Amino acid sequence: MKREWFEGKRVLDIGSGDGQLSLLLTVQYEPELYLGVDIDPKQVKHATDLMHKVAQQEGLASKLEILETEVQENPESERAQKVQSLPKSFRQCLGSSELLDSLHEGALVKHIAKSIKGYLYPRLAFRSENYISHLNTEFEKFDTVVCLGLARYIHLNFGDIGIKTLFYKVYDSLPSGGLFLLEVSPWKSYKKNKNSCKAFDENFRKIQLRPTEFDHYLRRSVGFELLKMLKRPEVDGVATLEKPIFVYQKP
Ligand SMILES: C[S@@+](CC[C@H](N)C(=O)[O-])C[C@H]1O[C@@H](n2cnc3c(N)ncnc32)[C@H](O)[C@@H]1O
Repeated sequence: MKREWFEGKRVLDIGSGDGQLSLLLTVQYEPELYLGVDIDPKQVKHATDLMHKVAQQEGLASKLEILETEVQENPESERAQKVQSLPKSFRQCLGSSELLDSLHEGALVKHIAKSIKGYLYPRLAFRSENYISHLNTEFEKFDTVVCLGLARYIHLNFGDIGIKTLFYKVYDSLPSGGLFLLEVSPWKSYKKNKNSCKAFDENFRKIQLRPTEFDHYLRRSVGFELLKMLKRPEVDGVATLEKPIFVYQKP
C-alpha cells in the first residue's frame, strides 16, 4: 500500500468487516476521512467497538504487559527496541502486538503524541449497509475505494448483476484520478463457498463473469485504467499469488 493513496484522502472501505484493516490504514496513512461500510450490523458493531477500545485506551493493559515482558526478556531484539522507543501513552493505546507489528514506527509516534481519540473520532466511522443497494453515489464522493475480501461475497449473493453494480457504483463515486483497490478471489474459492446457502448455490451456477475476467471488464466496459497489481501478504509475511489486489484509476 502506498501512503499517497490514502493521505489526506476521503476513503471508502466496502466490506470493512471487523475494522482492523480500517483502523490500521487510518492510523498509518492519515486520511481526511475513512468510512467503513458492511452489510452485517454485527461486524459494524465489532469495528466500532474496536475503534472505541483503541481510542479509549481500555482493556489493553494485559496486552501491554506481554509487550513489556518481551522487552525485558529480549531487550536487544528489533521488536523490543521498537517498543521501547515509543512513548508510554502510545504503547497503551496500541498495545495489541499485531497492530504494533503492522505499523511504521513514525506513524505510531506521531499520532500517539496527539490524543489517539482526538485523531480517530473525527475521521474514522463505520455504518451498516448493503453497498450495492444503497443510494449513495450522487451524494457521497470518495478519492479511494478499498474493496478487500468482498467481491466473492457480492458475486455469490447477488450474481453477475451484483458484481457489475459494485464496479459501476465505485466508478461513479470517484473523481477523475480516483483509485479503486480490488482484491480478487480465485474461482476455486467460489466453489468452496457456494454451499453456504441456497442462494449462493443458485447464483454460482449462473455466473458468467468469472474473476479472471474482472480486469478486462473493469478496463473495457467500466472505463478504469490498471495502475498496479499487488500481492497481499500472508500473516507470516509470505506473499500469496492467489488473491492479487488490483489498483485501478479512473481516467
Ligand atoms: C471477508 S470480509 C473482509 C473484511 C476486510 N475487508 C478484510 O479484508 O479483512 C467480507 C466482508 O464483506 C461484508 N459484505 C458482504 N456483502 C456486502 C455488501 N453487499 N455490502 C457491504 N458489505 C458486505 C461481509 O459482511 C464481511 O464482513
